Amino acid sequence: CTGTFVAALYFATLWNVVSSYSSGNGSFPYNFLFGAATASYQVEGGWNLSGKGENIWDVFTHTHPEWIADHSSGDIACDSYHNYKKDVKLLKKLQVQVYRFSISWARILPNGDLSLINHSGITYYKNLIAALREVHIEPMVTMYHWDLPQALEDKGGWLNTQMADYFKNYASLLFTLFGDQVKWWITFNEPTEVCTGYVSRDAAPGVVLPGVGDYKAAHTILQAHAKAYHVYDQKFRSKQKGRVSITLSSRWLEPISESSEDIEASERGMQFELGWFAHPIYSKSGDYPPLMRKIVDEHSRAEGLKYSRLPSFSGYWIKYIRGTADFFALNHYTTRLVTSGEEGEIPSKEHDTGVISKVDPSWPSSASKWLKVVPWGFRKLLKWVKSEYRNPPVFVTENGFSDHGELEDNDRIYYHKNYLAELLKAINEDGCKVIGYTVWSIMDNFEWERGYTEKFGVFHVNFSDPARSRQQKKSVEVLSKIFHLKKL
Ligand code: NOJ
Repeated sequence: CTGTFVAALYFATLWNVVSSYSSGNGSFPYNFLFGAATASYQVEGGWNLSGKGENIWDVFTHTHPEWIADHSSGDIACDSYHNYKKDVKLLKKLQVQVYRFSISWARILPNGDLSLINHSGITYYKNLIAALREVHIEPMVTMYHWDLPQALEDKGGWLNTQMADYFKNYASLLFTLFGDQVKWWITFNEPTEVCTGYVSRDAAPGVVLPGVGDYKAAHTILQAHAKAYHVYDQKFRSKQKGRVSITLSSRWLEPISESSEDIEASERGMQFELGWFAHPIYSKSGDYPPLMRKIVDEHSRAEGLKYSRLPSFSGYWIKYIRGTADFFALNHYTTRLVTSGEEGEIPSKEHDTGVISKVDPSWPSSASKWLKVVPWGFRKLLKWVKSEYRNPPVFVTENGFSDHGELEDNDRIYYHKNYLAELLKAINEDGCKVIGYTVWSIMDNFEWERGYTEKFGVFHVNFSDPARSRQQKKSVEVLSKIFHLKKL
């Protein structure tokens, strides 16, 4: 399959470049890339300005403010729609080489399809990209960071398999418009979270189809991703020479004891969490992880269903999806201790996984319930990716810490320093090919169902100031040095 071949070639060349300088003494490889990230809905604001269409997060926050911790929305957020020049200054101050941001689909295509193209939206992103290029910051563009145009949700959203073609057309338009300036592309951000929106009200669109919606949405997303990848291969790659991937997110799931039962629980958990999307793309055989297939099929039979709740790919699709990534884009924040057991309703993915997770009470906390500080888990995850997927080049597209917005953010400094130290061990001692590291986030922003109650930024944003003034936190001093010197 051409996808696999091209991906293997990219893996090899990418790593040859990076590994030509080894990283001893706390140094990162000389061309290791440091970056910072945001996402359109979380920072842009301008939700109804200059021809932008509504998306599922606009509708979700407007119709159900009570589902957001502080009843807020991303209507204005950091107002990056007007403040992008300020944002570029912050990025420069942090001394990053890459800025990962996402494009709002409905700002470019208000109806989701090609029936209407919004030129003001295009101008906004062209200006942002030009401003970045002017100061030598590489754009890394995420095409889909959760904000589906509402017009497409009205057609069934990711439950509708036709969405794969809508996405392909959108992706193709982005390559055409921006591909001469953008060399790093991410199709989807954390697709597992997108799928959450089809089994619960924790995320938009909040369609509740337990045990089915998430698997169905995932199936379409994998096809959509692969279609975008192949369009790039067929029409754009030879001229534009960029790289395309999909950002997958994973915790590290550490067995709670050395018992074989707990080790199996950890493996099962990893396959359901990361393997769900990674196995079809990065494994030699393609398709969903065999363990996942076996369990969901068995559960479906036991529930008296004629078909498995986990949809099947034909041989054509398995080949078509396999190898559709030029590097492994990984988000990582935290770790859990796991053991075997029943969790979640029947049917649900949690129940299918059969894993109970806990935290060690001694692990430092953050402002987010789910985020404990466990640096060593990062190294273990990187090692797992190495052994599971034949050591692909890994770009860490997010890693970050939440607090309540303190300017003296010592806990954030502790978090990044220690996670970076583990990343270095993964490169030097375990032979993992990590090629980049991205901080989430350059500035405080709208944290989805948590609203503005949890802050991830290395710059503070004053949300009561109409100008949304930004202010440097202490972590910028520390991180900018590391990013500039490429040394911990
Ligand atoms: C991952 C998501 O990509 C991002 O949108 C979110 O804000 C961070 N995690 C922190 O929760």
